[in-house]
Amino acid sequence: MLVEMKINNIVSINDFLDKKLLDLIFEKTAILQATTIIDLPQVLNNKIIANLFYEPSTRTRFSFETAVHRLGGDTISTENASEFSSTTKGESLEDTIVTLNAYVDGIVLRHPHIGSSQIAAKVSKVPIFNAGDGAGEHPTQALLDLYTIIHQKNKIDGLKIGLVGDLLNGRTIHSLINLLSLYNVQIYLIAPTQIQLPEKHQKLLNDKKIEIIKTSNLDDVIGELDVIYMTRIQKERFESIEEFNKLKHTFQLDKSILPRIKKDAIIMHPLPRNDEILPEIDSDPRAIYFQQAQNGLYLRMALFQLVYT
Ligand code: NCD
Repeated sequence: MLVEMKINNIVSINDFLDKKLLDLIFEKTAILQATTIIDLPQVLNNKIIANLFYEPSTRTRFSFETAVHRLGGDTISTENASEFSSTTKGESLEDTIVTLNAYVDGIVLRHPHIGSSQIAAKVSKVPIFNAGDGAGEHPTQALLDLYTIIHQKNKIDGLKIGLVGDLLNGRTIHSLINLLSLYNVQIYLIAPTQIQLPEKHQKLLNDKKIEIIKTSNLDDVIGELDVIYMTRIQKERFESIEEFNKLKHTFQLDKSILPRIKKDAIIMHPLPRNDEILPEIDSDPRAIYFQQAQNGLYLRMALFQLVYT
């Protein structure tokens, strides 16, 4: 039986650190995934959702937008709000949000500054959906990532999960870490020291008594992992291009690793990828990153259902 719980904003993953709430979201997601398009609940009938994107996006924006349309709503969008909105004239984020409140029933926001969704939610009367705030958080991505792991592996407790790449700047990692900390998992933090997970997130794992294994050498541990979660080195967050260039080729999964990873491991990536996963492994059944991206559509539909019914 589905327990009903109300959520008003999706700003931080900290508001989702409740296994019952997660079970409810994932149950709804699985139902929506199995529903044919014409039978989808039209919970956004007569609703308009604004997609306010100050940073580039493919999956997040299109899946949010598709979710709105599939549930009977409409969208208005700006995909380059830093240039195509009154921000260029010096308008504050708060003023933009208050203005949009007069037109729409919800705002999906991607912004380069950490904490921007929090600022938006403070002045907004309509729900705010954080679609990424700089190197801060990406809560809906973390939810779809956890959904994907549980859906693929049929469990979460006991798994050895490797987080690989730019753990310093990767907002998907920061949100996912929080969710994983609710479970009995082992977390491998695989990154060069310059881009290791920030201290505050490591502290959270320590406080929750999660076993962490820190290394910069993927080869040493790849055979132990149940989940290999690759990430892109976040070029746009580096102050110097030289520093980025030194790190950009740190990790690269190619065909040669396939015999060395567990038969039932899964390879994930929030995408977009650069060359940390070569296309030559896409056809391996363990490479599930495009399925992961598709799950984002169902998960975001489930969130709309929770917020608007
Ligand atoms: C990520 C993001 O924007 O944080 N992509 C996504 O939303 N699926 C990952 C990234 O940009 O590397």
